[in-house]
Amino acid sequence: MSSSILLLAMSLFIFAHATSPRSFLRRGFSVLIEDELEILVSPKKTFTCGFYGSGGNAYYFSIWFTGSRDRTVVWMANRDKPVNGKGSRLTFRGNGVVVLTDVDGTVAWETNTTSTSARKAELLESGNLILKDPSGHVLWQSFDNPTDTLLPNQPFTKSLKLISSFGRGSYYSGYFNFYFDSDNVLKLMHDGPVISSLYWPNPDSDAFGNGRTTYNSTRIAVLDDSGMFMSSDRFQFNASDRGHGIKRRLTINHDGNLRLYSLNESNGTWAVTWEALKGMCKVHGVCGRNGICVYTPEPKCSCPPGYQMNDPTNWNSGCKPKFNVTCSNFTSDKVRFVELPQTDYYGFDLVYNSSTSYEWCQEACLTDCNCLGFAYRTNGLGPCFTKSSLFNGYKTPDFPGNLYLKLPVSLQVSSVTPILNGSLPICPLGENTVLVGSSSMYDGIGKRIRWAYLYWFASVIGAVEILFFMSGWWILFRKQGGPDPLEDGYQALSSQFKKFSHGELKIATRNFREEIGRGGSGTVYKGNLGDGREVAVKRLGDVHHGEDFFWAEVSTIGKINHMNLARMWGFCAEGRNRLLVYEFVKNQSLDRHLFGPNLLRWKDRFRISLGTAKGLAYLHHECLEWIIHCDVKPENILLDPDFEPKIADFGLAKLLQRGNATSDFSMIRGTKGYMAPEWALNLPITAKVDVFSYGVMVLEMVRGIRLSNWAIMDVVEGEEEVEEAQLTKFVRVVRRNIQFDPEDNTWIEKVLDPRLRGQYSKRQARALVEVGIACVEEDRTKRPTMDNIVDVLLKCDNEPNVPAR
Ligand SMILES: *[C@@H]1O[C@H](CO)[C@@H](O)[C@H](O)[C@H]1NC(C)=O
Ligand SMILES: *[C@@H]1O[C@H](CO)[C@@H](O)[C@H](O)[C@H]1NC(C)=O
Ligand SMILES: *[C@@H]1O[C@H](CO)[C@@H](O)[C@H](O)[C@H]1NC(C)=O
Ligand SMILES: *[C@@H]1O[C@H](CO)[C@@H](O)[C@H](O)[C@H]1NC(C)=O
Ligand SMILES: *[C@@H]1O[C@H](CO)[C@@H](O)[C@H](O)[C@H]1NC(C)=O
Ligand SMILES: *[C@@H]1O[C@H](CO)[C@@H](O)[C@H](O)[C@H]1NC(C)=O
Ligand SMILES: *[C@@H]1O[C@H](CO)[C@@H](O)[C@H](O)[C@H]1NC(C)=O
Ligand SMILES: *[C@@H]1O[C@H](CO)[C@@H](O)[C@H](O)[C@H]1NC(C)=O
Ligand SMILES: *[C@@H]1O[C@H](CO)[C@@H](O)[C@H](O)[C@H]1NC(C)=O
Repeated sequence: MSSSILLLAMSLFIFAHATSPRSFLRRGFSVLIEDELEILVSPKKTFTCGFYGSGGNAYYFSIWFTGSRDRTVVWMANRDKPVNGKGSRLTFRGNGVVVLTDVDGTVAWETNTTSTSARKAELLESGNLILKDPSGHVLWQSFDNPTDTLLPNQPFTKSLKLISSFGRGSYYSGYFNFYFDSDNVLKLMHDGPVISSLYWPNPDSDAFGNGRTTYNSTRIAVLDDSGMFMSSDRFQFNASDRGHGIKRRLTINHDGNLRLYSLNESNGTWAVTWEALKGMCKVHGVCGRNGICVYTPEPKCSCPPGYQMNDPTNWNSGCKPKFNVTCSNFTSDKVRFVELPQTDYYGFDLVYNSSTSYEWCQEACLTDCNCLGFAYRTNGLGPCFTKSSLFNGYKTPDFPGNLYLKLPVSLQVSSVTPILNGSLPICPLGENTVLVGSSSMYDGIGKRIRWAYLYWFASVIGAVEILFFMSGWWILFRKQGGPDPLEDGYQALSSQFKKFSHGELKIATRNFREEIGRGGSGTVYKGNLGDGREVAVKRLGDVHHGEDFFWAEVSTIGKINHMNLARMWGFCAEGRNRLLVYEFVKNQSLDRHLFGPNLLRWKDRFRISLGTAKGLAYLHHECLEWIIHCDVKPENILLDPDFEPKIADFGLAKLLQRGNATSDFSMIRGTKGYMAPEWALNLPITAKVDVFSYGVMVLEMVRGIRLSNWAIMDVVEGEEEVEEAQLTKFVRVVRRNIQFDPEDNTWIEKVLDPRLRGQYSKRQARALVEVGIACVEEDRTKRPTMDNIVDVLLKCDNEPNVPAR
């Protein structure tokens, strides 16, 4: 009796096993979508892997929670390339690759295991799909390619990114990203087609103000089995239901919030046990351009007076003005201001004045037709922000100021309060979601002062690793000594870097007698160390950091050694004194040669362009990934007697916190001087800002005059007078010439510095012009990297420097 039951059970088991999903696949496996949707299950059936159908006939090769009510997807292979519900196929080919093909045979997705010994595909109980070779070595894993979800024990590392899906029920890649930024800090960013904007952690504070650190370059975070999340930037949180045995996932939702969910296995629903942002209006870009997010108390989107919804079905597309914004119609007597209480649009400031009157602020907006409105703190003096774009709008009682919206006088608006009829696409999956417990973890306590640009400098830029600092580099320094070996450019050695006393430097500079330069960052004095070395001693202006921070930063800079970077020999940090000791470069800075009375020969111009590119490429790519100069300009390029350039002041951006420079960046859309447009647009600052500045400088080398001056008056044929920067004009002329006839080179003569009188290499000139033009692209993704530039220029190094005719 009992044995027959056992037999029955066994045969049932075998039967069930034959038809139900398996736990692994072997090479040669192939399945048609019509035949089988569920392909693999994990050992305890927590996860299923197979074809996931959505919205009619779109199918995705995915992994989902078997036991959740709506089969919650945790990973997708082809989120942006769904395949057909008929004729699509998953194949584990003989050459080791796993491929998803659509009905017409096109490859929608494949693993990077072509021509490997991958033998077996397996879905682990952790939710990780892996491809292994016969010895068990993992060749590919889904954990390395996350979509919008991180599972417990899935390491989140520097190369990974969670990207939200586009909308409820849509799996396409959306605009919200969760990632490690270049300053080693975990961030949330809205990266949309028109704006990119960071919104978590609190963008009004720097990393340290948010309880993070930028010092740990490991960049790894992990959610453990007990619901504790820990990141190398010191960010940490616990699930409100912390404990083992609960199935969890961390997902960036299509509304831009990052949430931790726990599964209630008895009814298959998810509960939120932590979320990054408490107020949805803190998510940037959630209501689109011009839109305002309002708590009613439910968060809702609305349009300001004078504006209407762009697309009534989609708030992300924001609001459009009911009037035409033209310069002639948008200044002085033709406009008025409408007050929106406790409302602000974050970022995109044209002018920032920390302390000024309402009248000053209004006047600043009135006289600039690019200004769409301004935010002003009503009680007391300022601060004042005028806005070039209205993004990230929100209204909250916490905001101690008002927004004054600029509207044409002619436009009648019925109401001065925003019209509240849009509802935000707020997330938490379905009606069953509840917030369990309380998560007091993150609460963006916002300082209202808008330090945005300042902190860009302080935190994003050049988040210099101090890895070797920790690993005891200084011992190395002590051991090395003696004379410098030949500096061949790419050696990192710093034999004589040291901490000087103020007394020593006082003697060296003969009590700071000989001033040789003065700039934004401080005053430079000439000096002589006892051993005969001539030095330039820079006394820094406002440095607010303590000695430890200074020491850590400066010593990283001191370790950098490249023939095209001005060498730092040491520093002094005593009391309030902060001094840097540099090698003395004899031949003054580039601006004096290039814009001065004496002609700078073509050969030298090219050498300087190439050398500067090498120096920047070294900073960006070779030494420490994240040193961005942030202030590339001829004044910072020093020349030795052979006209070999040496870049000065690198690595200082972080030290200096160029506080009062904020207003410089807020000039019109960053066109000013050598500044890349990103500075004014609240975009993440990357090495591409240096590429932009380098481009301006290279074009100046070609032209022989300053192109970086802001706005000159210029009369365009027959048209009215328009303001146009020299640079824009130059770029326009060159682009037109290149487009007109890419083969023709005759125009080069016309754009070149006339003082050269034909003494130049045409090939080099063309290369420099093309590099310069590419570097000053508005879109930073289109600009080349410094590495690319070095390659291009090296190809035409060693040209004979003869008359070009
Ligand atoms: C596939 O790419 C991952 C990174 O995404 C890498 O770690 C892995 O080594 C690659 N596998 C092969 C076989 O190249
Ligand atoms: C950096 O973070 C990792 C992971 O959290 C940790 O193991 C490591 O000790 C940290 N390093 C330093 C120097 O703090
Ligand atoms: C999370 O829990 C651990 C262990 O109980 C505790 O050490 C840690 O401080 C908690 N973290 C937070 C942010 O509450
Ligand atoms: C899970 O759902 C069941 C049924 O609704 C409920 O009784 C139980 O309390 C829930 N468990 C948790 C941890 O919320
Ligand atoms: C599932 O359980 C949760 C938590 O107790 C509860 O709020 C929810 O209403 C339940 N859903 C269903 C469909 O039973
Ligand atoms: C919003 O309200 C305005 C005026 O009340 C109305 O004209 C418009 O159709 C509404 N839009 C939506 C999406 O409901
Ligand atoms: C804006 O300009 C367009 C064409 O330039 C015109 O058709 C439209 O009527 C104008 N709208 C308003 C509100 O003036
Ligand atoms: C400028 O304003 C006038 C009235 O103030 C209006 O008639 C004209 O259409 C406006 N022009 C544009 C381009 O909007
Ligand atoms: C700020 O406003 C004051 C007048 O209140 C003005 O004197 C000052 O120049 C302004 N600062 C900037 C940086 O524009």
